[in-house]
Amino acid sequence: MADCAICCGVTGTWGLLPVVSPAPVIAQVTNTSQFIVHVLVSERFRLAEITIHTVENRGAMVEEVTTPDFDTYIAEQSIDAVEICPGWVELIWSDGQISRFHHIWLRDNCPCADCVHQGTKEQMFELVAVPADIHPLRAGVTAAGSLAVNWSSGDHTSEFEAAWLRANCYRDQARRDRVHQQITWDANTWSVPPTFDGLAVLADDAALYEWLIALRTYGATRLRNVPCTDIAIGDIAGRIGIVRETNFGVLWDVWSEPNPVTNANTALPLPPHVDLPTREYQPGLQFLHCLENEAIGGDSILVDGFRIAELMRDEHPEHYLTLTTVPWSWANRATTTDYRWRSPLIVTNGDGVVTEVRVGNWLRAPLDVPFDDVERVYAAYRVWFEMSYRPELQLRFRFQPGDLIAFDNRRALHGRSEFTDVGGRRHLRGCYTERDELHSRLRMLERDMRRRAVAAAGI
Ligand SMILES: [Fe+2]
Ligand SMILES: [Zn+2]
Repeated sequence: MADCAICCGVTGTWGLLPVVSPAPVIAQVTNTSQFIVHVLVSERFRLAEITIHTVENRGAMVEEVTTPDFDTYIAEQSIDAVEICPGWVELIWSDGQISRFHHIWLRDNCPCADCVHQGTKEQMFELVAVPADIHPLRAGVTAAGSLAVNWSSGDHTSEFEAAWLRANCYRDQARRDRVHQQITWDANTWSVPPTFDGLAVLADDAALYEWLIALRTYGATRLRNVPCTDIAIGDIAGRIGIVRETNFGVLWDVWSEPNPVTNANTALPLPPHVDLPTREYQPGLQFLHCLENEAIGGDSILVDGFRIAELMRDEHPEHYLTLTTVPWSWANRATTTDYRWRSPLIVTNGDGVVTEVRVGNWLRAPLDVPFDDVERVYAAYRVWFEMSYRPELQLRFRFQPGDLIAFDNRRALHGRSEFTDVGGRRHLRGCYTERDELHSRLRMLERDMRRRAVAAAGI
């Protein structure tokens, strides 16, 4: 043992988010000229050969730590030990968690100014610029707590902020933890959607955040006290992102009119449906704002399409298989446009998770499937529609002026009962935006929270 270095840091808290600097690590340096050390992590008695930056050499290897994005990362854990393994680099964190990053993954995600444009934070590095078997010659923890890796090709060194690595760890549990919770519901869960104050949402980011988390989790929410103006719905949707224009316009009206272009603008009942299943990319979010409701009837209906899918999978697996694999054809029978799309009613991803439903009774085009599939498709659709009318699955409530429902148009089915407006009008304003906009706004709000937490801590 030629030398012995002890790295230790300060432990503290920033508001709700604990911040832990590097925990005590005993590094027994055996060869400082090549940055090779043996690290004995106390309490776990793990001996690993790693490299570490000494104070004298750190500056020469890496000039500054950056991340390949504009986010702020708060260090909750520090890197206790680093080991270069065949194919990957293993990190042991101060809470005992182990992360493994493949050599090519680390090289691909180098955040330096040669690899990522520091103005745009977009990659300039190309995979083909390095050999497929690129691997670290040396790797270690800097005094600032970052991971530094010197590569076998290109005389290149990467430095990764520890908190960024932790946030991007791809061990199975970490990947599961990053999946947003989506909770299904029915009429036994609540009688109206989770409700928030529209004026607060317009004025306050904390209220906006609370509402959007509920919208992402449940796919259906209600605001009250939204100003009864023609443009207020655009202001609400604009708090999330860009409003999507369609052939119905940017903001549109739902009311009974003499020459309707859609069944929505009649006084007919509307079976539970999503809007625009006729489009290749059906809108992700829909907003309906009540400006007037003097009509008799016209109760609003919301059904969790993901809940129906769960029941269909459990009660009728053969119909579930049909609805997830055989496409129906959808058509918008308009005088000036002709939108059509074919898709299974229940759309799943590669893991079999339901990602969207696509159904609208009055937008069904003639079924176009192989002859032998026709009867089983009709049988499966019959069960779906029967389920969507089950009272225990339907929320039924009456709009008051100033109410606004916001829902995931690819998850929550909406509808209404028949109404008569001879004594007064039922007038809703509507618009669409996308799931992308919701997720982007939530990430921006969370980024801002982290940035303010760091600023408040004076770091
Ligand atoms: Fe609709
Ligand atoms: Zn680089």
